[in-house]
Amino acid sequence: MAEEIKNPDGSILRKRAAPPARAHEPLPPGMAARLCALNVLETVLAGRKTPDEAFATARYGDLLEPRDRSFARALVFTTLRRKPAIDAAIRKFVAKEPPDDVHRILMLVAAERGLLNVPAHASVTTAVDITKRNAHTRHFQGLVNAVARKLSDAAESLLAGKWSPQAPPPYNLAARWKKTYGDAVMAALIDAHGVEPPLDLTFRKDATAEAQRLIKSHSAFMLPTGSLRLAATDVTSLPGYASGAFFVQDAAAALPARLLGEVKDKRIADLCAAPGGKTMELADAGAIVTAVEKDPARMARLKENLARAHLTATCITDDALTFRTAEPFDGVLLDAPCTATGTIRRHPEIVFQKDARSIEKAAELQTALLDAAARQVRPGGLLVYAVCSLEPEEGEHQINAFLARHRNFSRKPVIKGEAGIEPAFITREGDLRTLPCHWPQWGGLDGFYASRLVRSA
Ligand SMILES: C[S@@+](CC[C@H](N)C(=O)[O-])C[C@H]1O[C@@H](n2cnc3c(N)ncnc32)[C@H](O)[C@@H]1O
Repeated sequence: MAEEIKNPDGSILRKRAAPPARAHEPLPPGMAARLCALNVLETVLAGRKTPDEAFATARYGDLLEPRDRSFARALVFTTLRRKPAIDAAIRKFVAKEPPDDVHRILMLVAAERGLLNVPAHASVTTAVDITKRNAHTRHFQGLVNAVARKLSDAAESLLAGKWSPQAPPPYNLAARWKKTYGDAVMAALIDAHGVEPPLDLTFRKDATAEAQRLIKSHSAFMLPTGSLRLAATDVTSLPGYASGAFFVQDAAAALPARLLGEVKDKRIADLCAAPGGKTMELADAGAIVTAVEKDPARMARLKENLARAHLTATCITDDALTFRTAEPFDGVLLDAPCTATGTIRRHPEIVFQKDARSIEKAAELQTALLDAAARQVRPGGLLVYAVCSLEPEEGEHQINAFLARHRNFSRKPVIKGEAGIEPAFITREGDLRTLPCHWPQWGGLDGFYASRLVRSA
C-alpha cells in the first residue's frame, strides 16, 4: 500500500509507493531504527535533503514498524536540534575528533542517553554493534565502546545546561546572530532551537466553540495574540481538523496578515501565498483575497487548505515578479521566500544547510519581489513585507533599502498592543521582530520580521 508522507498542517507532502520486500539480514531489535537514523543524519548533515525527504528514501526505512519509525524520527530530530551541546559533550571524551561516521554513532548515544531516556545497555551495545558492521568504522569499535560508556554515564548532566553566552558560536549562523543580537540572545536562540516547538492553531472566527472544546480536551491555551497552543501532536487527529475549524500556523506567522488592519471587503493581494496560512486568515477576516503562488504543487496545497476551511480566494498560479492586474490593491502582503532561519525549531537542518551565500541569494530575490509588490499597491494602500528569517539582510536592511528606493512609501509603525503584539516584539523603527527565545514561559515562537508600509495618497 502507498504510504502518505504528511506536512505539519496534515496535508500530503507526497505518497511513497510501498517498497518491494528487501532481503535484509535479520537485525537485532532497535538496530534498523538506528541504522536508518544514521543514514538520514548523514544525508541531512551533508546538506543534501530535509529530514522528511531523507526518511522517504533512507536505507532500512522499509524495515521499520511504526513504533521504530517514530523512534528513528525522534533520534534524528533530537540529535539535529541539540547538536551543539552533543558535540561539546563528545569532545570531552575524545582526544582527537573521530571520523564523521563514528562521530554520528556517538551523537546517537548522547541523544538516547541524555535526552530520550534510552537505557544504557540498549544504546551502548547497539552503538558498538553498528561500529562493527562497517569496514570503515570496524577498527574504531574500542574507541566507540569506551567513549559511548563514558558518554552514556555523563550525557544527562552534560546536556542539561544552557548554552553559555561566553562559549564560541557553534556554527556559522550562530556567529552571525552574535553579531546581530549579542552574546546573550545568541545563546538563548541556540537553547530555543534545541526544543521541539508546540503546535499553534489559528481558529476561524466562527469556530470559537471548537476552540473551547480543544482547550478542555487537549489542555490547549490561548496566547495573547489569539493563537491556540497545545503540545505537538498529529494535527489530523484533532477534533475540528476535518471540518476546517482551524489551520496550522505558528503564532508568529499569524501576525503579519493582521498588520493590514481591518480588511473586510478590501481587495488584498497575498503574493507568495502557499500553503495559505495568511490567505486563510485574510479570507476569514472578510477580505477579497487574490492569492498568487508560483509553484503549482504548492498552489494545489493552498487550494486544498482553503477548501478544508470552507474559505475562498482567487488563486492565481503565477510569478509575483511579473504578475499584473489592471486595478491595484488596497493592501498587499508579501510573505517572501527566505532562508527560514526563524523556523529552525521545526526545521533543524537549516543550521547545517544555509550560509552567507543562501542569505545573499534570498535577499536578491526579496529586493526584486518588493519592487514588484510595490507596483500593486494603490495610492494610500498598505504593503506588508514579512519573512521568517532572523537575518537582517532579509528583514530590516531590505526595508531600509526599499524606502530609499521608493520615496512614495513610508513606514506605518506597529503600535504597542496592536493585534496582541508585545512591546518586546516591536523594533525602534516600528517593525515586528519576533525571536524563538521570546515568550520562554509559553514555549517560544518562530522568528519573524514584518514591516508595514503605506503608499502616499
Ligand atoms: C514563505 S512561503 C509563503 C508562506 C505563505 N504565505 C503562508 O502563510 O502559508 C513563500 C512562498 O513563495 C513562493 N514563491 C517563491 N518565489 C515566488 C515568486 N517569484 N512568485 C510567487 N511565489 C513565489 C514559494 O513557492 C512559497 O510557497
